Amino acid sequence: MDDFSPIPDYDTHGWFLKSVVEILFKNVVFATNRDKVVLWKHPKELLEVFDFSLQQTGVTQDKLLTLIKNTIKFSVKTGHPYFINQLFSGLDPYGLVGQWITDALNASIYTYEVAPVFTLMETCVIREMCSMIGPEWKDGMFCPGGSNGNGIALNLARFQLNKNVKKTGMSQFPRLVLFTSEEAHYSILKFSSFIGIGEDNVILVQTDEVGRMNPTHLEECIQEQIDCGASPFVVVATSGTTVRGAFDPLYQISAICKKYKLWFHVDAAWGGGLIFSQRHRTKLNGIETANSIIINPHKLLAAPQQCSILFVKDENILYECHSKGAEYLFQKDKYYDQSYDPGDKYLQCGRKCDVFKFWLMWKAKGSSGFAKHVDAIMDVAEYFERQVLIRPEFQLVSKRQYINVCFWYLPRYLQKKKDVMDYSIQLHKVAAQIKAVMVKHGSIMLGYQPLKEFPNFFRFVSQNSALGVKDVDFILDHIAEIGNAIYD
Ligand SMILES: Cc1ncc(COP(=O)(O)O)c(C=O)c1O
Repeated sequence: MDDFSPIPDYDTHGWFLKSVVEILFKNVVFATNRDKVVLWKHPKELLEVFDFSLQQTGVTQDKLLTLIKNTIKFSVKTGHPYFINQLFSGLDPYGLVGQWITDALNASIYTYEVAPVFTLMETCVIREMCSMIGPEWKDGMFCPGGSNGNGIALNLARFQLNKNVKKTGMSQFPRLVLFTSEEAHYSILKFSSFIGIGEDNVILVQTDEVGRMNPTHLEECIQEQIDCGASPFVVVATSGTTVRGAFDPLYQISAICKKYKLWFHVDAAWGGGLIFSQRHRTKLNGIETANSIIINPHKLLAAPQQCSILFVKDENILYECHSKGAEYLFQKDKYYDQSYDPGDKYLQCGRKCDVFKFWLMWKAKGSSGFAKHVDAIMDVAEYFERQVLIRPEFQLVSKRQYINVCFWYLPRYLQKKKDVMDYSIQLHKVAAQIKAVMVKHGSIMLGYQPLKEFPNFFRFVSQNSALGVKDVDFILDHIAEIGNAIYD
């Protein structure tokens, strides 16, 4: 088939595109609880049953439809209510439409010229969210994920310390050190290494019994580093830690940052969506005292991936730190006011339009819709925690702070028997064994991990406000049922 141009032709592609939408409607968008979360295959088996090969000549549209069906068949249905494996889930209909439209328009948001609606929309969403954080907040940028946003914030903190870094690099700097909690997201370490600070210069501050940064220890660490001749430059607090959902004490950390003149960044990638909830936003109290904040609407607010925004108080810093003024994009003699081009405050050149899906969801539901969504999820997490507390075969790892409910399933021989030899080693194996059975059944995908001195435990997190108490009962009953079958 002579079908190589990137232009849809109704006669050639109309039927094909409609068929794909039908397949999506049936197998993804309107899939139900009764469908499997995943049809698990070992990688070697998948390599055999799926045609990954590429040839000199193209295949027919019928063959493509079969491949599309197989892609869906063997993919994880992250919109399924029992996909509770990660900090994203659900399939928001308005978010999905937003994503489809931006993909069809294939905009790149650097200039007003190329993306008139989306550049203005971005400014509008950033301003609206800034006003929700506090009157001093002035600017922001969409990021390709929270990790990346954390990295950009670290770079801004270093730039603020000495703006020459943009031109002369690190040669004039003493040894820079930064501080974050031992339960902070790993992206802080990764990006410290990436921007040339080095992982060894990330000081991990102790956390308390529920996972919050200990501010007394933070100050001790800062003082210790100063005494050793290093230069502290930024503290990263977390609002909603990845595993335990803990909220660091922002006011106390902020006071320490002020005292030592440090940049204060808050990683609210996971917890930041609480800003919409009147009932729960107090968990973010103190966030307004930061210099920068990352919030991921693709996590708590269930916007499709990716949707992540870095906010800054200083309205000039993004341009000052990142701009390069490429003349083929940001011409000085444009036929409109160049201040409408946001592209130069970004590190990327071409950039996907992540704002539209979020804006469309916000428009469809209103701020009150996001609030109801958040409140419903928090209610379900509270019910989950209560069930864990009253069922003898489950044990809470630590008190719930947020949506994350961290718990162990205890086989009967380990219940109330901490004196069993190798108790921790035996308990460590349980979550992995139960998870393997669940995934092979395709019934539930639920995350687990060890943390500090704790052996492997399950972490329940759902961003899907359609989940209810019956689902919680099913999840816990199902784990207990598999546990009974394995260990009794
Ligand atoms: C607290 C926290 N920060 C940052 C990130 C990274 O976000 P992303 O996955 O968008 O890179 C995560 C991811 O789970 C997170 O939990």
